[in-house]
Amino acid sequence: MTELRTARLTLRPWRESDLAPWAAMNADREVREHLGDVLTREQADASVAAFRADFVRRGYGWWAVEVTATGEFLGFAGLDDVDEDMPFTGVEVGWRLARTAWGHGYATEAGRACLDFGFDVLGLPEILAVTTAANHRSQAVMRRLGMTHDPAEDFDDPYAPEGSPLRPSVVHRIAR
Ligand SMILES: CC(C)(COP(=O)(O)OP(=O)(O)OC[C@H]1O[C@@H](n2cnc3c(N)ncnc32)[C@H](O)[C@@H]1OP(=O)(O)O)[C@@H](O)C(=O)NCCC(=O)NCCS
Repeated sequence: MTELRTARLTLRPWRESDLAPWAAMNADREVREHLGDVLTREQADASVAAFRADFVRRGYGWWAVEVTATGEFLGFAGLDDVDEDMPFTGVEVGWRLARTAWGHGYATEAGRACLDFGFDVLGLPEILAVTTAANHRSQAVMRRLGMTHDPAEDFDDPYAPEGSPLRPSVVHRIAR
């Protein structure tokens, strides 16, 4: 599995020592505000198993993100195939950081490394980013990365129940 380096961060394979802080951040309602229910320890562990399998199967996925200088685990960033029930197809970039890691530019820095990997290594012609209409912090990261949003593409997330604030969603795009 490829490791990505930025000025401050290392995007690397998951380690057993990441499981506890990953579970803790996914038990945080603020981190999960735009994602859905908080995760149990079992669900968090299972998600990491799936992330590892994704890399083995196709060579990209969600990397663990750490601060290179200290080794502090921050969360994840990476690339994933858009879920098949969405109204569009492609590869999306994404990020999820522990609350204490917000406000440092880490998501934008990690996201840029993921875009470079997607364009330069995977040769993707375009990369998408998908989030709820209410997730302004994530959309700010998308804009900082130069991604653009066409309101004509706004859609309802089919995985969110009718009437849920998680349902209205937006897609951002960037071409190679
Ligand atoms: C979405 C998420 C990753 C955004 O994190 P973030 O910290 O707001 O985004 P960035 O890492 O780009 O940081 C930007 C902020 O750091 C500040 N910053 C501080 N030092 C900085 C530096 N050295 N370089 C750049 N920005 C810096 C910026 O000014 C900006 O501050 P602002 O939010 O007050 O405008 C975070 O809110 C999160 O993990 N949310 C929960 C999970 C989630 O919703 N994920 C997305 C699902 S689609």
